[in-house]
Amino acid sequence: MASSLHLCLLFSLFLFLNSSIAQNSTARPHTLVLPLTKDKQTLQYITTIYHGTPLTAVNLALDLGNHFVFMSCHYTSSTFTIPHCGSPQCSIAKAYCHHLCASSSPPAFCGPNNTCVLLPLNSFTQTNDAGSVAEDAVAVRSADGNVITDPHFIFSCAPQDVLSGLDSGTQGIAGLGRSQIALPSQLISEFGLTQKFAVCLPEETTMSITQSPAGVMFIGNGPYMFLPNVNVSLIYTQLLTNPVSTSGTNFKKEASVEYFIPMKSIKINGKDLFVSSSSFEIHKSGSGGVKISTVAPYTTLSRAIYKVFTNAFVKEAEAMNMSRVAAVEPFRVCFSTNNVLSTRVGPAVPTVDLVLENVDSTGVVDWMIFGANSMVQVKDDVLCLGFMKANKKSTVTTKVKAAIVIGGYQLENNLLEFDLAKSILGFSSSLLFSQTTCANYNFTSTA
Ligand SMILES: *[C@@H]1O[C@H](CO)[C@@H](O)[C@H](O)[C@H]1NC(C)=O
Ligand SMILES: *[C@@H]1O[C@H](CO)[C@@H](O)[C@H](O)[C@H]1NC(C)=O
Ligand SMILES: *[C@@H]1O[C@H](CO)[C@@H](O)[C@H](O)[C@H]1NC(C)=O
Ligand SMILES: *[C@@H]1O[C@H](CO)[C@@H](O)[C@H](O)[C@H]1NC(C)=O
Ligand SMILES: *[C@@H]1O[C@H](CO)[C@@H](O)[C@H](O)[C@H]1NC(C)=O
Repeated sequence: MASSLHLCLLFSLFLFLNSSIAQNSTARPHTLVLPLTKDKQTLQYITTIYHGTPLTAVNLALDLGNHFVFMSCHYTSSTFTIPHCGSPQCSIAKAYCHHLCASSSPPAFCGPNNTCVLLPLNSFTQTNDAGSVAEDAVAVRSADGNVITDPHFIFSCAPQDVLSGLDSGTQGIAGLGRSQIALPSQLISEFGLTQKFAVCLPEETTMSITQSPAGVMFIGNGPYMFLPNVNVSLIYTQLLTNPVSTSGTNFKKEASVEYFIPMKSIKINGKDLFVSSSSFEIHKSGSGGVKISTVAPYTTLSRAIYKVFTNAFVKEAEAMNMSRVAAVEPFRVCFSTNNVLSTRVGPAVPTVDLVLENVDSTGVVDWMIFGANSMVQVKDDVLCLGFMKANKKSTVTTKVKAAIVIGGYQLENNLLEFDLAKSILGFSSSLLFSQTTCANYNFTSTA
């Protein structure tokens, strides 16, 4: 009797599970895939999400080191809401409750009295201002080809001054940082995904994002399959947290949400640069360290490291019979293309290796940077070294400065996996070696 009841229960449970899977095959995706492109004018990397009701495409500039998504709230949507102070949304957003701008009419950046605000920071222009916390639907594609919706996505409204400096077709910024309300974190928790995301930044193309996405962001599990049937494999290092906030505005007492990595040294053509390894460490003040950024278009080196780096590069390049030519702004170190062969991984120039601590600190792994990621072709016959010297002055919004900011150009056509649970970074080095690119993700595949 008892056991047949048990069986009966099991059977109906089975039926229930089966039918809910059948009716809602999109409820549990394993991986989300978002398109990426590069804007030629601003050199920003742009993704597209679907937002509001009815769903509308919104372009957002990627900022690996930002807390959350923010955009203009001058749009019409039947599901747009501004949460009240004390709501779970305000508390998960760690937002300030404000009673300051009750007269301001929603849905402008300042919501009604008794709502909460964040301080969206545009890292491209270093401007910030208060913006209401808001909630609306967000839809993205899963790797199996379905469009899935998170009906309660939290973001911040941003006033126009914070949004200036973006391309005209870009409505806001997508923060991918270590924050509970960053774009990946919210979608991971909504859909119960593995706590990982990966970016494959595109190079500049002539195609628009809707015609043909040139790159891809994955949220959730791999594998990372690119045409023609390339299963990208990764090498792992650690992701470090800077205990001092690097954004300088909001969340002052909190750790930085940016991603730092444990660099031990840099090699040029296999030779160690004469730089003390402590140059790459994060100091007590929060300054120093090596971080990854999708905001800096090119890798930026502290002034001391830049000098040693460029001297060594020029010496190695001259030994390869490359000849230096006049600098072309914004670069300082340029060469004639004479005597420079082309290879699968770009012009044959001295290699740059970032030497990183491995995951269990027992040794090191090399992130190798070849010509395609180190040299920028500025004219038919001129190649420039795409590494920049840091500015002298610190910005208004942050006083802490990293020793090295690894920027977008050096990341293009490399796959980077941010494993948030294990706090490790997987990197592929150039996909060109495997005869594929970030543009070769097949968005129309239903595999
Ligand atoms: C399918 O999933 C959506 C979103 O989670 C939910 O709103 C809907 O009720 C589900 N439908 C069924 C038939 O379970
Ligand atoms: C805003 O709300 C607070 C707390 O409820 C109240 O004390 C204040 O008077 C309100 N301000 C306005 C302008 O309505
Ligand atoms: C891709 O590689 C991963 C890791 O090596 C492996 O677990 C996975 O099965 C591979 N997937 C395919 C489709 O080849
Ligand atoms: C550089 O040029 C010199 C003189 O033409 C030649 O002897 C040498 O082999 C060249 N070196 C390389 C690395 O091509
Ligand atoms: C991408 O996948 C679709 C669906 O599986 C397939 O029809 C198409 O040929 C693929 N594209 C390429 C370039 O292989």
